[in-house]
Amino acid sequence: MQEKRIELNFNLACLSELDIQDIELIKNAKEAFSTAYAPYSGFLVGASVLLENGEMINGSNQENVAFPSGLCAERVAIFYAGAKFPDIKIKTIAVSVFSKSFEVTDIISPCGACRQVIAEYEEKQQNSIKVLLHSPNDQVLIVNKVQDLLPFMFKSSHLKKY
Ligand code: THU
Repeated sequence: MQEKRIELNFNLACLSELDIQDIELIKNAKEAFSTAYAPYSGFLVGASVLLENGEMINGSNQENVAFPSGLCAERVAIFYAGAKFPDIKIKTIAVSVFSKSFEVTDIISPCGACRQVIAEYEEKQQNSIKVLLHSPNDQVLIVNKVQDLLPFMFKSSHLKKY
């Protein structure tokens, strides 16, 4: 047996340290969480996707009384961007959160299903997607590619036989 290690790269920053476009995208993600439909969790999530053509597409979590039928903010934004601009590459996704019932101090990271969806778009467009995770106290965790959030991801190449 061999012990192996995976290195994940990320940066932690204050909001004010980011470049103007990333700050703008996070501002959009913050605005987006006010459109969340989250009557069951009271946990509001906003996501904003920056495309290569400069468009910013927002999404928010949409819950349902049949819980698994709801969708996270990240997937709402990414799927909306994919449907509206199928041939335009995604550069960055920013995520911002707010809870109606407690003070969020941690940096919240996308769930596994959202990471898998972002990974699919990275593979589709053959370009990495930067992820900005914004906490209410203006800390930001930055990864330059989703592989840094999802090691051992399932890829389309795993469906092929060699
Ligand atoms: N949620 C998101 O929208 N994105 C995440 O990254 C984590 C969780 C939503 C799903 C659900 O509406 C609520 O937050 C509580 O899980």
